[in-house]
Amino acid sequence: MTQHRREIIKSAALTATGMVLGTMSPLKSQEAPAQKQTNARPQEGTSRLLVGKVALVTGAARGIGRAIAIDFAKNGANVALLDIADPTGGMPISGYRLANESELDETVAAVRALGVKALKLKVDVRNNNAMKEAAALTARELGGLDIAVANAGIAIWTTIEGSNEQQWRDTIDVNINGVFNTIQAVVPHMKARQGGRIITISSIGGRQGVVGNGAYGTTKWAVIGLTKSAAIEFGASNITVNSIAPGPVNTPLYRSQGQLRSTGVKSFEEQDKVVGAMLPLKAKPALDPQDIADTATFLASDHARFISGEVIDVALGYNTIYTA
Ligand SMILES: NC(=O)c1ccc[n+]([C@@H]2O[C@H](COP(=O)([O-])OP(=O)(O)OC[C@H]3O[C@@H](n4cnc5c(N)ncnc54)[C@H](O)[C@@H]3O)[C@@H](O)[C@H]2O)c1
Repeated sequence: MTQHRREIIKSAALTATGMVLGTMSPLKSQEAPAQKQTNARPQEGTSRLLVGKVALVTGAARGIGRAIAIDFAKNGANVALLDIADPTGGMPISGYRLANESELDETVAAVRALGVKALKLKVDVRNNNAMKEAAALTARELGGLDIAVANAGIAIWTTIEGSNEQQWRDTIDVNINGVFNTIQAVVPHMKARQGGRIITISSIGGRQGVVGNGAYGTTKWAVIGLTKSAAIEFGASNITVNSIAPGPVNTPLYRSQGQLRSTGVKSFEEQDKVVGAMLPLKAKPALDPQDIADTATFLASDHARFISGEVIDVALGYNTIYTA
């Protein structure tokens, strides 16, 4: 195998995955009225971190979104679970399918079984008005809105040269516009609560160039730009905005024919071998959704009340190769 081919496989294997004068400190917590809800130090001995909070999670039917919704519920939050819940989503998806409605129903039931309120929202994050209605419904039905996770995302495994315009537009529409729509929809409700937490899901593909999946990489870099800009814009409203950049995670998106093709391998065993070799932490060849949920719950909790505009790589150490 040539060095060039090795480099392509190396990058492709992991694709699924301003400070301006006068705005030196986006979080103006000292100027804002003291908010027990978001600025209080967690009480000693409190093991459930989100009691009394309301969260909205997009892409919640399965995978990372599902694990986050369930972990939030275990920590005492009432959760609105939003998903397109339509296997093709009206897009030329290939290489895997999006979630269906029974997967969303199962996750809603799993959250409810934990003794908190769960609200099912079958909504497409690409629809700005529908997202605003979903956020308003969440606030009305669950009694406010404190936490939002903009997690819904898709992958269409094509090169820049090989993409057709529709594939490019669909990836941008879900992965960037969907995050923008989520943020725009939830902020007014968080302002009404005098604070909140927004968490976006980028990727290690948003921290480096991505071979073989140009649109996906582009969108995941954009999510980080949007996260940092939002952290500045909403800091004075006591809303933190942070991103998680996962490495490979065991979900239908990563364990898919599309991802295998893009990695240049034929089986999940081979995928683990090729990808695992690049990860400094050898505990497992790919993360589990719960590993991402652990960080999301931390960012949503009072422990993270003074962290904003940050990107946390949860990537089994793959991030050690980044130049920044
Ligand atoms: N799995 C990985 O290795 C990995 C790595 C890095 C980043 N990510 C990111 O994590 C996030 C979750 O991915 P996952 O691996 O759990 O994938 P997944 O495909 O298992 O889950 C994504 C969910 O989003 C939903 N969704 C897709 N388009 C939607 C739309 N327009 N509106 C509403 N819901 C929609 C799907 O139905 C699905 O339930 C994505 O943003 C993905 O890019 C995943």
